[in-house]
Order: sequence, then structure tokens, then C-alpha cells
Amino acid sequence: MNTDVWKVDKDVDNLENNPQVVDAANFLRKNEVVALPTETVYGLGGNAENDEAVAKIFAAKGRPGDNPLIIHIADRKQLSRFVTEVPETAEKLMDAFWPGPLTIIFKKKDGILSEKATAGLNTVAVRMPDHPVALALLKTCGLPIAAPSANSSGKPSPTKAEHVLDDLKGKIAGVVDGGATGVGVESTVIDCTAATPVILRPGGVTKEQLEEVVGIVEEDSALKDQSARPKAPGMKYQHYAPNAPLYMVAGPKEFLQTLVTEKEAEGLRVGVLTTEENHHFYEANLVLSCGRRAELDTVAASLYDTLRSFNQGQVDIIFSEIFPNEGVGHAIMNRLEKAAGHKLITE
Ligand code: TXA
Ligand code: MG
Repeated sequence: MNTDVWKVDKDVDNLENNPQVVDAANFLRKNEVVALPTETVYGLGGNAENDEAVAKIFAAKGRPGDNPLIIHIADRKQLSRFVTEVPETAEKLMDAFWPGPLTIIFKKKDGILSEKATAGLNTVAVRMPDHPVALALLKTCGLPIAAPSANSSGKPSPTKAEHVLDDLKGKIAGVVDGGATGVGVESTVIDCTAATPVILRPGGVTKEQLEEVVGIVEEDSALKDQSARPKAPGMKYQHYAPNAPLYMVAGPKEFLQTLVTEKEAEGLRVGVLTTEENHHFYEANLVLSCGRRAELDTVAASLYDTLRSFNQGQVDIIFSEIFPNEGVGHAIMNRLEKAAGHKLITE
């Protein structure tokens, strides 16, 4: 299949009538799948009400069928079409964070959305992305769009159109290239179907920010306890992994360097995932910085791009620094733990 690339400057006016956006929207209306930029990561969009379109999303990614998709909308009025009720907590969260990196789980109305998109669950995950190109595309096609991250299953999520093409070229109708995404890690997923909201996946909106708006928020126990079954089906799969095995290292940088030196002595090519503050300290085959430790937002923004870059460096093993598990650091550590398959070396 030919994969079109539609370049769109996200800062121009009147994006809804932009010929590239209109072209991509037409493909969505014909039940083809198209990758699009959001403020978190690129998504692979398809008509959420059409089984055929949704099947194409799962096929292109190689995604397991039991992992439901997030439905993207441009207007809150679209909710009543496929959601049975909007609880007060959800209203408050939408007022505060939409459009933005927060996905809310609602009770689902039967018979509207493709059952494949919701993996047969009686709930549905919905978000309104805060990206002018995504919003223009959603408005122009007029459909609820199911969109998982636009990577092959298991790979790091794409934060640039090039990442999407690396994984999915030839498998999808096209990519709307709106430049690099901003937040860099996926949306926070919060379940609002019970009295107390529960975070199922940490992300761009932090627990602290959520609690300011709705009071106490719980966290799915599976986020701490690896033996518990996660309430978001996708959280049980390994994700974000570079080709070489990745180990998180807890301890000072001197300790990490001794691990590097040991492996190099064994004849391995070693990579180090670090930050700008420590970049010059390490001696290894490939030392890559994923942002500034003092500003964790910059780490979130570059983490996946950096993980992907290790694949070009042909390293045999990667050691990574770890990050404070608070604020956006919570989402960063959740993704790093998955990329490392939870392998942690402690001094
Ligand atoms: O930032 C994002 O959320 C990106 C952009 C493209 O919007 N999308 C994204 O989608 O990360 P995906 O498919 O990679 O992750 C969706 C997560 C999965 O862990 C899935 O299991 C969970 O949301 N999910 C979807 N529907 C659910 C439901 N009804 N109940 C519980 N978890 C659900
Ligand atoms: Mg994903």
C-alpha cells in the first residue's frame, strides 16, 4: 500500500479547510487508517464506528485484540452518542483538562461504536487531544476516531512522523506530519465509572493536578504491584523496548560507569541513557541524553525518540539512569520500567 505523507504546519490559520487535512479526512471517511499528530504522541486513527476501519488499525500495529482503543473527539457533544452517562467528576475533569492529555473511561452505550474498538468491554475510553491539527482533522471528518499510538505493538510510541513511517510505512493510507509532538508520553487514563476516580495509566496530567480538581484519586494497584492484573488491558504488555536489552540503574553515576566498563571488557557495545547534566561524565560506545533532569518535562518529550535512537547505534546492552517517581516523573518511570521489562540494578 502507498503511504501518503501530508505535511501540515500546525500554526497556520483555518486548518479545517487545509487541503492536506481535507485529503486525510476523506481517507478516514472511506474507513482507511491515517496517522495524526496529537500533543502526546502520534495516533493511528480510524472511524471508531466501523469494524473494517478498526480491524485495519489492529492489523497495521500487530496489536492484540483484547486491548481497547481510545476514542478521540473534537466536541463534548459527541459523547452522548456513545456514552450512557457523564458523571460529575468527569464533567469537572473535562472542564479542567480538555482538550489535553487526559483520557476518561465512561460507561458505554451499546450498538454505536465498533465492538472491536472497545474490545467488547462495557466501558469506553475517550479523549479530546490538544493539538490544532488533530482537532481540525476530527472536525473535518466529523467522526469519533479510534486511535492507539501509531507504533508497531511493543515499540516506543512515535513522537515524530518519521517514527510512524519507520514502523508502519506501506501498512497505512497516510501520515499527517505536523512536526514533533509536545508532551512526549501518552495521556493519563482515569476511570470515572466508580465513585472515586482511579488512574489506570500515569501520563501527561499528574495525580497532583487531578486531585486539585476532584479531591482524592486512587491508582490502580497494578501500577505498583507487578503481580496484580491491570484494569487497563494494554498495561499488561511489554512496551517501548529498544532492540538491545535495557537495564535501569539505581545509584550514583560512578556505579553506572563501572557496569559499562565491565560489559565493555566482555567485548559488548554498551549504550547509556542519561541526561544533559550527566552526559559528559560517561564513557561508553553510545551515550544519549533524553533531556534535562532539572526539567522532567524535557525528558518526557524526548524519551521515546532517544529509545528509538539506540536502535541506530547497534549497541548490545543499554544502562539507564532512573528518575524521581513524582509529577511527570511517575509517567516517565512507568514507561522506562516497561521498556526495561522491570530489570533494575541497584548498587
Ligand atoms: O496519548 C494517548 O493516549 C495516545 C494518543 C494517540 O491519543 N494514545 C494511546 O493509545 O496511548 P494506546 O492505545 O496506545 O493506549 C490506550 C490505553 C491502553 O492501555 C488500553 O488498554 C487503555 O488505554 N484502555 C482503552 N480503553 C479502555 C477501557 N475501556 N478500560 C480500560 N482501559 C482502556
Ligand atoms: Mg500505545
